Amino acid sequence: MRNIDQISITDAFLGYCGPETDPRLKTILERLVVHLHGFIRETKLTHAEWRRALELLTAAGKITDHERNEFVLFSDVLGVSSLVDMVNSLPGATPASVLGPFHILGAPEIPFGGDFIRDNQGEAVVFSGTVRSVSGEPLAASMEIWQTADNGLYSNQDASQRDYNLRGRLACRDDGRYLFSTIRPAPYTVPDDGPVGELLRSTGRTPWRPSHIHFIISAPGFRTLVTEIFPSDDPYIEVDAVFGVRTALCVNYESSESRQELPAELQIRDTLPTPYSRVEFDFVLAPEPKE
Ligand code: BEZ
Ligand code: FE
Repeated sequence: MRNIDQISITDAFLGYCGPETDPRLKTILERLVVHLHGFIRETKLTHAEWRRALELLTAAGKITDHERNEFVLFSDVLGVSSLVDMVNSLPGATPASVLGPFHILGAPEIPFGGDFIRDNQGEAVVFSGTVRSVSGEPLAASMEIWQTADNGLYSNQDASQRDYNLRGRLACRDDGRYLFSTIRPAPYTVPDDGPVGELLRSTGRTPWRPSHIHFIISAPGFRTLVTEIFPSDDPYIEVDAVFGVRTALCVNYESSESRQELPAELQIRDTLPTPYSRVEFDFVLAPEPKE
C-alpha cells in the first residue's frame, strides 16, 4: 500500500492480519493498534518523546532478571495489572488483587491455629474467617499466605530473616474456617531504583504500598483467588503505588488485651503478646467459569 497517511495507516494495519490468525489474537492486536495510533494522533507524540519511551523500555529490559521483572512493575504502577484483575472479576466473589513479585513456592505447611510470629517483632494479630463459595457453602480450601516483617521487607529481600519467615500454607477445616497468628505487616516501597522509580519520581507519585497480607486461595472446581487484605487505617491506603486496594479488602484491626476471647485452637493462645489485634475476614470463591 502506497497511500499511507495519518488516518489510513490504521486501516492498513487492520487489513494485515490474514484469515489464519486466531480470532482472539486478531481482536487484541487490532484494538491495541487502533488505540495506540489514536493516542499518537491525539498527543502528537514527538520523536524525542517516543525515543524516551523506548529508552525506558530498554532500561526495563536491562534490569529484568529471574528475580526482578520491571515490565510487571510498569504494568502494576500504570494500573494495568489491577484493571486486568477487575475486568476478570467474577460476581459475588472476593475481589482479586496484585500478586506482586515476592511470592515464592515451597512455603511450609502450618496447621489450623498455627503461628507465624515466632521470633518476629511487631504487634501480634490473630487472623481468622471462613472460605465460602458464592452460593454460601463452606470450602475446605488451601491458602498460601505471605507478608513483610516489621521492617517492611519480605524474607526473600532480607538476609537477616529465616528462609520462609512469615510465609506458609494452611488448610482450612471442612467448615471452611481458617485461623492463624501473625504480626501486623509493615508498609513498604515498590522497587524504585530502576525506570519505574524514575517514572514515579518525575510524576510526583509515591512508591509506597499500604501494609497488606497476601493470600492465594484455591479449592477444586473454583477460580483460584489471588488477593491481599489491608488494614483500613494504613497511612498509604489512598495512594497505593500499584492500585491494589479495594474497599472490600480493607479490614479493621480490632485491638484487644484479653486472651480469654481467643479460640482454644490457637497454638500460642496462652503466650500471645498483648495487646494484640483481631481480624475476621471471610473469603468468597466463584466457580471456575466453563470454557
Ligand atoms: C507486592 O505487594 O508485593 C507488590 C505488588 C506490586 C509491585 C511490587 C510489590
Ligand atoms: Fe506485597
